[in-house]
Amino acid sequence: MDTSDHDRLLILDFGSQVTQLIARRLRELNVYCEIHPFNAVTDDFLKAFAPKAVIFSGGPASVFAEGAPMPPASVFELGVPILGICYGQQVMMHCLGGHVERGKGTAEFGRAYVTPGGTKLDLLEGWFETDREQVWMSHGDHVSKIAPGFEVYGTSPNAPFAVTADVNRHFYAVQFHPEVHHTPNGARLYENFVRIAGFKGDWTMGAYREEAIARIREQVGSEKVICALSGGVDSSVAAILLHEAIGDQLTCVFVDHGLLRKNEADEVVTMFREHYNLPLIHADEADLFLGELEGVSDPETKRKIIGRLFIDVFQKHADEIDGVKFLAQGTLYPDVIESVSFSGGPSVTIKSHHNVGGLPEKMGLSLVEPLRELFKDEVRALGRELGLPPSFIGRHPFPGPGLAIRCPGEITREKLDILREADAVYIDQIRRHGLYDEIWQAFAAILPVRTVGVMGDHRTYDYACALRAVTSVDGMTADYYPFSHEFLGETATRIINEVPGINRVTYDITSKPPGTIEWE
Ligand code: XMP
Repeated sequence: MDTSDHDRLLILDFGSQVTQLIARRLRELNVYCEIHPFNAVTDDFLKAFAPKAVIFSGGPASVFAEGAPMPPASVFELGVPILGICYGQQVMMHCLGGHVERGKGTAEFGRAYVTPGGTKLDLLEGWFETDREQVWMSHGDHVSKIAPGFEVYGTSPNAPFAVTADVNRHFYAVQFHPEVHHTPNGARLYENFVRIAGFKGDWTMGAYREEAIARIREQVGSEKVICALSGGVDSSVAAILLHEAIGDQLTCVFVDHGLLRKNEADEVVTMFREHYNLPLIHADEADLFLGELEGVSDPETKRKIIGRLFIDVFQKHADEIDGVKFLAQGTLYPDVIESVSFSGGPSVTIKSHHNVGGLPEKMGLSLVEPLRELFKDEVRALGRELGLPPSFIGRHPFPGPGLAIRCPGEITREKLDILREADAVYIDQIRRHGLYDEIWQAFAAILPVRTVGVMGDHRTYDYACALRAVTSVDGMTADYYPFSHEFLGETATRIINEVPGINRVTYDITSKPPGTIEWE
């Protein structure tokens, strides 16, 4: 079995910043969908994919631009419902005989209100229970003449064709973005669209689990698989799913670089070995990593050293297992979606991320990626389905290079020990106050300065630490968490009293951008 057993919806990506949100809205409706760049969708692709419906995303281009992004003409001949959004509406009208005009004082960005026009439309069921609906607009050009067969069903002050449809062919086109939060009733529109298209809504995590297991068995056969277990949610869910599918054919390697949080290594090893009975190699390599990191303070050099050693260690242990043919990875769907780039230029590397990329070719292994179709929250749902404890599934993200990047400047064992204690007290405070799940990520960093303090009648000269807590959706942008002063005061007192080596606590209130979440 594979995903083609489900009804599939195709999202044709024209490069909108929010295309992934369309997929999120659909997955919430238990509809299986995939995002593909418009220029990768050929007639043959369409035939093979056999979508039950198609959505054209928005995008930054203008249909007037030379080489403007266009859908393949055959998409209109598939006989399936199509929904065009923003640029998707404009390109649909352009292709089907309507007219688009360049924005001249009619650009609309931000909140707008759509009022009903014409007769009732199936796509708008549940809309207009009040006399208007708030929507989010973001367009320069606009449709000035709709294509033959289309009618208008909703208008806004700057978009006379805010909602249009050809009800006979089930082609729908809207100028606004129903997928964003600022179109509060937008999810309803997607719900109506997939109902009209006849989706069964059978994409559930229970079904996914069964199918993924069958697929893994089919791919792997009786061969052996290795998996790098980090203790994070993604690699853990991937490992447990694989273990369920192929049992002892799977061996996990847990590379312990000595840069983990307090008790973390023990917790991971106990959970996987004892609770899940999973063959696990605990590669305790703290001496190796900390030895090579000695005297290094440049953040990128630290990252490169850790990345290289990680691969070496992993490979060494993998080589000891005879006849391994596959490497399992917890790759997620957002890493797989090809992005549509209009600028074409290379993007700047802010931080080189830690992963095992490049390893499979070097070792002659094939990849097993059982989470490739899933978004992060779907991975969590699958983890719950597989019986992982909720406290584990809800854990904040933790970076591959671990505490190394929370210890600006030189890393020493002494600093790491102090940092582990401070971090544990801080997280305990957050849990005690019931704030853990409201925060996307929280941690302490130990600063490379000592400051003077006074405890009792004694002078102290100890390290300062910084606390960080952010809210975020995906880690790409973030805001600092607005703790009360009372909470911050209580936490600072606890850390200074309970953690020898720290005599000053600060709270980092930088958002991202311009800051990053981690300190290095
Ligand atoms: P920054 O610091 O770039 O972090 O704002 C964004 C998110 O990514 C995590 N992070 C990493 N995760 N390997 C990882 O697996 C890495 O090398 C790495 N560097 C940063 C960071 O913890 C935050 O969640």
